Amino acid sequence: MKTVESEVMEAVEWDELSFSLTPTRSMYMAECDLGGEWRPGELIPFGDLSISPAAGVLNYGQGVFEGMKAYRSAKDRIVLFRPERNARRFQASAERLCIPPLPEEIFMNAVLSTVGDNIDFVPPLGKGSLYIRPVVWGTGPVLGVQPAPSYTFVVYVSPVGPYFKGGMRLLHLEVTKQFHRAAPRGTGNAKAIGNYAASLYPLKLAKAKGFDEILYLNASDEACVEEVGSANLFILSDGVLKTPALDGSILPGVTRDSVIQLARERLNMEVRETQVSVSDVAQADEVFCTGTAAVITPIGEITTEEGHNVITDSVGPVSRKLYDLLTGIQKEELEDPFGWVTPLEVY
Ligand code: COI
Repeated sequence: MKTVESEVMEAVEWDELSFSLTPTRSMYMAECDLGGEWRPGELIPFGDLSISPAAGVLNYGQGVFEGMKAYRSAKDRIVLFRPERNARRFQASAERLCIPPLPEEIFMNAVLSTVGDNIDFVPPLGKGSLYIRPVVWGTGPVLGVQPAPSYTFVVYVSPVGPYFKGGMRLLHLEVTKQFHRAAPRGTGNAKAIGNYAASLYPLKLAKAKGFDEILYLNASDEACVEEVGSANLFILSDGVLKTPALDGSILPGVTRDSVIQLARERLNMEVRETQVSVSDVAQADEVFCTGTAAVITPIGEITTEEGHNVITDSVGPVSRKLYDLLTGIQKEELEDPFGWVTPLEVY
């Protein structure tokens, strides 16, 4: 007799996975009312929710999210990568959006129980990962601009393949002065849903011109690059790895932090968190972007208002080494001296 698990294994086309939603069995939901105290939640069937048209999230964008992945590892177990970093960033983002921060214990329990209940949706080793999306929003009704009186926290999951279509190919970025991603002292360093809503129109225009993504400039004087919107940026110049410093308008990426540590401690490289100009990017030996979804994706070309610059037409050796180290640790094919990998049974 077929089990539910074997039916899932047969129904999902593991070789065709892209970065899109495949509904799974269940999701976790918890709620928080006026007092700001989160009550532990529970797993419920994955599906639509009903919400007041006056909900804080619908009217004033009061919501934040996280992105994480679970992998089937070479040790034949399911692992997460630095989940406590996402739990803490989720709290910091929530605070910025006036959402009561979720206790780390509830976050971890929610993530682990959702992955555990949908374990058969974790792709086979080498075929992708189970993307985990914790999200919290203002549910209660508001009319004036104010924090919502109640909040909902949900974790749902989906098996995914590469974020950028075409696997490990070189991206072509547009450097635009038409739009900014984040203002100084705005919400750029929080994973606020509104940051992503604001990026849709610039991205639509860029894609219509044939670019893969936008490389945003800092809003105050446009003298340096910040991030790609869905990922952080790195350049390699004369053997030094550089990434824009976290100045308040850049998302503090977990993959960004991991790459900095890998480069310093495993490749003995000098890494500088500093200002990076457009000409630094155009003249770099290697450029890549990092993120949970993007992993490490190389960049081959950038186009500015002044012209088109080819950086490289092949994946550079340092980008390749960092990719192999990061994904090797994530999949337990390499030793994990940092203690980054968290097997599912630990909690
Ligand atoms: C992630 O890397 O998880 C992100 O949040 C980027 C994007 C899918 C919004």
